[in-house]
Amino acid sequence: MNTINLKSLALKFSYNSDSLHLSLLDQTLLPHQEKWLDIKTTDQMIDAIKKLQVRGAPLIGVAASLQLAQAAFLDFNIDALGQQADALCAARPTAVNLMNCIDRMKKNLISEKSKSSFIQTAIDLFKEDVELCEKISLHGAGLIQDGDNILTHCNTGGLATAGFGTALGIIRKAYDSGKKIHVYVDETRPLLQGARLTTWELEKLNIPCTLITDNMAAQLMSLGKIDKVFVGSDRIAVNGDFANKIGTYSVAVNCHYHKIPFYVAAPFTTVDPTCRDGKDIPIEQRGAGEVRGAQGSFGDVIWAPEKISVYNPSFDVTPAKLTTGWIMDKGVFKQEDILKGCFS
Ligand code: MRU
Repeated sequence: MNTINLKSLALKFSYNSDSLHLSLLDQTLLPHQEKWLDIKTTDQMIDAIKKLQVRGAPLIGVAASLQLAQAAFLDFNIDALGQQADALCAARPTAVNLMNCIDRMKKNLISEKSKSSFIQTAIDLFKEDVELCEKISLHGAGLIQDGDNILTHCNTGGLATAGFGTALGIIRKAYDSGKKIHVYVDETRPLLQGARLTTWELEKLNIPCTLITDNMAAQLMSLGKIDKVFVGSDRIAVNGDFANKIGTYSVAVNCHYHKIPFYVAAPFTTVDPTCRDGKDIPIEQRGAGEVRGAQGSFGDVIWAPEKISVYNPSFDVTPAKLTTGWIMDKGVFKQEDILKGCFS
């Protein structure tokens, strides 16, 4: 059997009949250290997902599935794999992509009861995500004009998907097609995905960008310096409300006031038919340490009183009425499409 090699910006997988290797780029150490973690067990993958060493809605689904493939390669025990699948599913609650990928793996396990078919399903999920990113990027790039100043929040690029990304994939596609653009990157407190990860990706791609703290976006908008906003999503309700990294909602409110187009980009698999509206989307609450201070490749700092009470939701919900368009693999959807039930 030939060796299958899968490689993205943040994940490496290789597989043949004798061996299977899975490794992740530790995103908590970026941008200063590029350290790859060998993942050998499901517990290790769960830990990496919880700590955001691997992150981004599409990538955690793909990474969790490839870990199940590894577990099956080592010991194809259907009951044990089912339990590991459930444990992976529970690692983070908001990104529906994680649940969808694990669901696909479990359905295959039950219907085929075949090790090779189970491993192949995880490989397919990786490849499909690459294709979904490409389609989203093509649909979205057409919305960007030469000379646009774009704002983005969090990280939605190659570090968050198996492919080139969703919102950041769109920006990359527009830039690669020759459009002269500039990107304002929201820092994205508390875990600084914008400051640490999106800037790292944009620098590698040579796309002109400027880092701002989250509370600077409205001022830039008031000065007419932002033409469009593109963000990603972890879960979209059938009415178009969507969850994304905390702070996305305030960007959307600011866009509405300043009449700036505000787009969300995601694969259709991010739509959760069981969520009627944003109130049905479960929001992950995270630890107090993330708000009392920060830790990463720069060290460990606490700037708040050590026991101060903290509120730390990892995501917020942006209502559909604040959204100009939903850029999906199947095309760009507008308010009227959502009202006609295109997500139902
Ligand atoms: O907590 P994170 O870093 O996993 O949150 C990521 C986001 O909110 C992204 O915008 C979302 O997952 C879409 S990634 C294509």
